[in-house]
Amino acid sequence: MCGISGAVGLNNITDELYQGIRNLEYRGYDSCGVALMDKKSLVIRKNTGGVEEFFRKENVLSLSSKIGIAHTRWATHGKVTRENTHPFTSCDGKFAVVHNGIISNFRPLKDKLTREGHKFDSETDTEVIPHLLEKYYKETKNIEQALRKVINVLEGTFALVFISPMAPGQIFCAKRESPLMLGIGDEAKYVGSDFNAFIDHTKNAVIIDDGEYAIVSRDSYVVKDFVTGQEIQKNITKIDWDSETTKKGGYPHYMLKEIYEQPQVVTNALEQDSKSLDELADMIFESEKMILVGVGTTYYVASYGNYIFSSLAGEFCPPISSDEFPSLANVDEKSLVLALSQSGETYDTLTALKYAKSQGAKTAAIVNVMGSAISRFVDKAILQGSGPEICVISTKAALSQMLILTLVALRVAVKKKVMTKKVFNASMAALHDLPGIIQSILNERSGFIHRIAHSYCKVRHWLYLGRGIYYPVALESALKMKEVAYVHAEGMPAGFLKHGTLAMIDQDIYSIVFIPPRSDKALYEATIHSVDEIRARSGFVLGIHFDERGKNKDLFSEELILPKVPPLIAPLIQMVIGQLFSYFTATSLKRNVDKPRSLAKSVTVG
Ligand code: AGP
Ligand code: GLU
Repeated sequence: MCGISGAVGLNNITDELYQGIRNLEYRGYDSCGVALMDKKSLVIRKNTGGVEEFFRKENVLSLSSKIGIAHTRWATHGKVTRENTHPFTSCDGKFAVVHNGIISNFRPLKDKLTREGHKFDSETDTEVIPHLLEKYYKETKNIEQALRKVINVLEGTFALVFISPMAPGQIFCAKRESPLMLGIGDEAKYVGSDFNAFIDHTKNAVIIDDGEYAIVSRDSYVVKDFVTGQEIQKNITKIDWDSETTKKGGYPHYMLKEIYEQPQVVTNALEQDSKSLDELADMIFESEKMILVGVGTTYYVASYGNYIFSSLAGEFCPPISSDEFPSLANVDEKSLVLALSQSGETYDTLTALKYAKSQGAKTAAIVNVMGSAISRFVDKAILQGSGPEICVISTKAALSQMLILTLVALRVAVKKKVMTKKVFNASMAALHDLPGIIQSILNERSGFIHRIAHSYCKVRHWLYLGRGIYYPVALESALKMKEVAYVHAEGMPAGFLKHGTLAMIDQDIYSIVFIPPRSDKALYEATIHSVDEIRARSGFVLGIHFDERGKNKDLFSEELILPKVPPLIAPLIQMVIGQLFSYFTATSLKRNVDKPRSLAKSVTVG
């Protein structure tokens, strides 16, 4: 959601700015702009549409500047138009500002500034910032003091970055709740919404915390506290991702690359530091109750976690969608709130954790991005080590989180003495088989899934059904279909069908049913009953199952047969099928796979 990239160096930085903002495209955006400096005046270029097209059409790379800021906007206030695209300038043209977040009191500020004679060109909340800078600069004759005054009157959330011809070698920035960091290179310094803004140039980052602002020049940087104005000594964080892993590496889309990385991602998850897993298991063991939180995909991961903890460790831990957390959760100092987040920046999830902490609850999280807000906020963070996930659609990160939850649940089960060491070892052995099985499915089943997806890509409504732990798999797979293919898909417990939805079923209704292995007898039989109910009404069923070929003759309209696996890993394999099915449906429908319309990778607004 919104990308900010800035650079200040000895030579022309337009290439670095372009690279930086391109690397942030995955976050999701609808328009793009830059501010550069030509001798003593600002040069602004902006427009709606994609970064590459914008840089080409506006000839940005033919311009030369030693300092600049770029922005990809994900509109929250005001339509997607050129006028509403960042950067925004003050009336006197002395400040060019980009911003991520929402200025919640922009209306009264705008009214007051208008009365004072300021002219506005956009409908955005952001535009009050350059005008406020102009106003307070006139009062103080000092840019830093003006910035501190502006921050003081702004309500809401922001990562704001600006340049000014009055300080032609400096980038100013400030942060409250929206992500912001600095890149510390030898030849240049950078600002960015995340590491990807400067990963091609430096692995040294300084993470700006809430309530801090920074002034960055080619040779130095200083970070200070909003309120006191005192300098803050910051640590350098070494980024352990390299720019190569974030590139597509021959795959047509990041989504496919990331699906194919899952054997390695699962291996990484299995190699998680056992001390860290034990610490989380201890926290769970010691808490009176645990609540799992996440939103979108991570809510479904949380639901999966509830089934895993309930079945393995006898630990009921309700999942709550982060955005609903304050309305539902009753937590106190005996509670533990465990959050799931790929980006570690999701506003709703961070807000839920803040609420939990304010009630005295302990907090923990499984996150993918090191140095992210959530990873730094919680009492205990587990870094999942899935590597950069660039596609807006989460695949590998979600699978890895499910696996890590399983590893922790197994430990809790042993601690609670509800599982013997022998069962624990057998479960671990099954998990260790997972990378190889996923690899063979990717190698041997992708072609078939591609064909089926292509044949049925015109279907406009799918029901995704599963029972038990296959229910969250159905929900997550349906979400994949909606977000990447824009096809309506409704996830539902298979047993719920007969309580209403069955009335809809006829030959025009298409269902996908996630069927457990036969060894999970009761669940298997119950799921097959649901298939029978649909087939009896001439409904179409794509059955994804582990039975031998021919065993279910005539039961399904189409079937996808998977190799025999233990029940513990079966739902994780079904997840991979759900991912591939939606990916190939989306490519058949020629969707914008890595950047679906209206979606953003890290949703940093509430
Ligand atoms: C995933 O495919 C979605 N785009 C979305 O639901 C996402 O999982 C959700 O916004 C949570 O993000 P997070 O994991 O970065 O916190
Ligand atoms: N609220 C601002 C706008 O709508 C910033 C959005 C963003 O974070 O990209 O322009």
